Amino acid sequence: MATILDGKAHADRMLEVVRQGVEGRLAQGLRAPALAVVLVGDDPASQVYVRNKSAACAKVGITSLEHKLAADTPQADLDALIDQLNADSGVDGILVQLPLPQGLDSKRALHRISPAKDVDGFHPVNQGLLLEGLPGLRPCTPTACMSLLAHHGVALKGIRAVVLGRSEIVGKPMALMLLEQHATVTIAHSRTKDLAAVCREADLLVAAVGRPGLVEGSWIKPGAVVVDVGINRVEDEAQGALIFAAEPKKLETLRAKGGVLCGDVRFGEAMEVASAVTPVPGGVGPLTIAGLLSNTLVAANQKV
Ligand code: GUN
Repeated sequence: MATILDGKAHADRMLEVVRQGVEGRLAQGLRAPALAVVLVGDDPASQVYVRNKSAACAKVGITSLEHKLAADTPQADLDALIDQLNADSGVDGILVQLPLPQGLDSKRALHRISPAKDVDGFHPVNQGLLLEGLPGLRPCTPTACMSLLAHHGVALKGIRAVVLGRSEIVGKPMALMLLEQHATVTIAHSRTKDLAAVCREADLLVAAVGRPGLVEGSWIKPGAVVVDVGINRVEDEAQGALIFAAEPKKLETLRAKGGVLCGDVRFGEAMEVASAVTPVPGGVGPLTIAGLLSNTLVAANQKV
């Protein structure tokens, strides 16, 4: 039976470090770090994310500044708000919540944020610094996953790591961070031939594709470490019966509540094969916000 890598517990450890960092700033007579969150439109999932971010900021003493814009905001108005936040010396970090409503160009918005305030680590300057292995603001989810692996003493040097997914938010930066730690890295994706065989070579498998239960137990090398970045909601009972064959309780919850959260990996099956697995929920999810607040503190301290 695999060990469960508890993301919530590790997020709490990371947040405690941030809280102490904020306290240190205040003790030196500096102001609390400030994070500006820009939410355009009324996507329900984004509203939940933004609320969770504000609550986490409050816990560690970071000032959270919310800017809500209507879904039909013209790009020029979003540009103007980003320019204003870039120029505001009272703002250390800027996050434009994704996805943006149709008609708005996310890349244009993300590229407009000052790299020094880009706490998401999505600006090409920060992505380029990561590519070169230089310090910069790095994407929150992969940074926090690396921190979780380090905390649990997962050795990366020389291992075979497979990153399933090639997004700029998780897959690509995660692959670069693993490479930096001397893993031999494969990026696999929806067009990869014989995905199962590629995954089976992995000593470390990171799944970040947003496909519920894609990774079956038979895709996992015995003793591998599995990091599941996917957060998906499954409502279909037939699909649930397949994905949760080794997790009867989860299937019961789906039937009782009409839906249940699940990762990209079949957790019950992974627990029987892997040496360690992150659960969903309670794995990578809580780590992302901890990574964001950590970046906000770094951005604030860089200006001193
Ligand atoms: N939407 C979902 N996850 C994220 C994230 O990490 N950053 C931003 N900006 N938007 C998101």
